[in-house]
Amino acid sequence: MIRDIERTLIGREAIARRVREMGLQIASDIERELLAEGSSVDESGRVSLISIMTGALIFTADLVREMPLKLSLDLVTVSSYPGASTMSKGAAMRSVLPKNLKGKHVLIVDDILDSGQTLDLVDRLVKEQGPASVRICVLLRKLVPRVVDVPAHYIGFDIPNEFVVGYGLDYDNYYRNHPEIGVLKPSAGAGA
Ligand code: IMP
Ligand code: MG
Repeated sequence: MIRDIERTLIGREAIARRVREMGLQIASDIERELLAEGSSVDESGRVSLISIMTGALIFTADLVREMPLKLSLDLVTVSSYPGASTMSKGAAMRSVLPKNLKGKHVLIVDDILDSGQTLDLVDRLVKEQGPASVRICVLLRKLVPRVVDVPAHYIGFDIPNEFVVGYGLDYDNYYRNHPEIGVLKPSAGAGA
């Protein structure tokens, strides 16, 4: 365990088990929808996964390997916690979305749903292109009042209002490599 981590909230096995369940569930939901439309699952090329960097990096890498589906994978960068701050200052796109989402079944993947501003922004921009469907998937959902009420379709774990790091989540771009979801020691600086 990295020294700055005070305690573990969700351990490796629990994460792996849940990510596997989510991957299979999402793939089967999308597959059912494609079949209902008369599209062949393997040949459709109509599933587009959009992963929000950098927090969703590790979650996405594990999730896609549990999804037995033909899909395209794009990464977008949205900044919402500039620098070391743990206070949300709103969301801004730092990269462009893929332009070919019309008629696609889109899955937006993020690490955590907090104020809702990040996912609301990406969701709105994706919908402007006229996709066939849009689903939102997050590993964590914080139990806090949201600035924007974004409904997430797939949620790994609900967590209390604590600042967490690990498994892709950072504080000041550190601790993403910690393999579990944990809470930092106040001395590490994220106690705000
Ligand atoms: P939102 O726009 O407030 O919903 O924030 C979502 C983004 O803020 C996530 O993609 C995370 O990168 C970051 N974030 C929110 N809460 C935490 C946390 O507890 N630890 C690390 N990052 C967080
Ligand atoms: Mg982030």
